[in-house]
Amino acid sequence: PEAITVAELANRMAERVADVVKSLMQMGVMATQNQTIDADTAELIIEEFGHKVTRVSDADVEQVIEQVEDSEDDLKPRPPVVTIMGHVDHGKTSLLDAIRNTKVVTGEAGGITQHIGAYQVTTDSGAVLSFLDTPGHAAFTSMRSRGAQVTDIVVLVVAADDAVMPQTVEAISHAKAAGVPMIVAINKIDKPAANPTKVRTDLLQHEVVVEQMSGDVQDVEVSAHTGQGLDELLEAIALQAEILELKANPDRPAQAAVIEAKLDVGRGPVATVLVQNGTLRQGDIFVVGEQWGKVRAMENDRGERVKEAGPSVPVEVLGLNGTPEAGDVLNVTSTEAQAREIAEYRAQVAKDKRAAAGAATTLDQLMQKA
Ligand code: GTP
Ligand code: MG
Repeated sequence: PEAITVAELANRMAERVADVVKSLMQMGVMATQNQTIDADTAELIIEEFGHKVTRVSDADVEQVIEQVEDSEDDLKPRPPVVTIMGHVDHGKTSLLDAIRNTKVVTGEAGGITQHIGAYQVTTDSGAVLSFLDTPGHAAFTSMRSRGAQVTDIVVLVVAADDAVMPQTVEAISHAKAAGVPMIVAINKIDKPAANPTKVRTDLLQHEVVVEQMSGDVQDVEVSAHTGQGLDELLEAIALQAEILELKANPDRPAQAAVIEAKLDVGRGPVATVLVQNGTLRQGDIFVVGEQWGKVRAMENDRGERVKEAGPSVPVEVLGLNGTPEAGDVLNVTSTEAQAREIAEYRAQVAKDKRAAAGAATTLDQLMQKA
């Protein structure tokens, strides 16, 4: 921040406001506690009181969490991160459940309990795929706007008995805007009223040309109910992933994106993150948005304790000092002081922004009344 109020400065130094005002006066600056002084003046005051000046700036933050370019040799293949999108009731949740149950379960009665909003499956041909459960369209967009592009492939679910609907179109534009390739899953193929041809021709009007229409977007007929086409869909995703040649460097401090976060009564703040690069380990110190922490424990998608999580792996993280927001990016730092400073700096910037916005609104309101 470029400026600070006298009261806030006193507060941060744990000094009395009156003493700060007096000190300012001696420097020839007349200011009451609610007035702001510039950063240079504040720095003089801080030194005057015998405190150390640590001015954190955007540049400092960037330096600490700087993304050192990985050299080609350090990059290893990583699983694709897949998000399922589509119109209401077209079967997104059913499809995710069906995939998880055919692939993850094996022998477990009643299907597996889902622990976190993301899971991994291994296809019959041995490819590992990470599925993101949560993002509805709003979440997808807001995560993108917060800088976390986590999705590599979008599976567009279109119900064969309903064809292209408004949110189908929305999903198409989200995927296009994000530059993420799409695979069309024509769902509910088991229904008597299913008309996959209509789906394909409808999609043409939105410039999605599927393979059956001689285009290059893969399309697979599936049924979340009967399980028809699920393996084919998974192989289509694996094929698309191969084309993308997704890579990451597992041998570096982790960067991860928050998929969801909550305050758990028993365990404190808990965040589900998806590792984007590097490996996250138990004991790592990190900053995430306006929060920071130290990885106390991690659980994978099956609720098992894990000590580390590599690229594209979703894990639940314990050990945060507060609850971050979906889309926040987690960066491992070398020291706790760094993590805390960056978190506090970000919180302050956000607070200043809110205050500025608040002041503007009040002024607007005053003007309107006048
Ligand atoms: P929202 O989360 O509300 O957007 O819906 P959704 O896309 O997650 O759809 P959901 O999985 O909840 O399915 C909606 C309805 O369609 C449910 O009644 C499902 O049982 C049904 N359904 C889903 N997939 C299939 C399918 O393959 N065949 C048939 N016959 N019904 C299906
Ligand atoms: Mg759903």
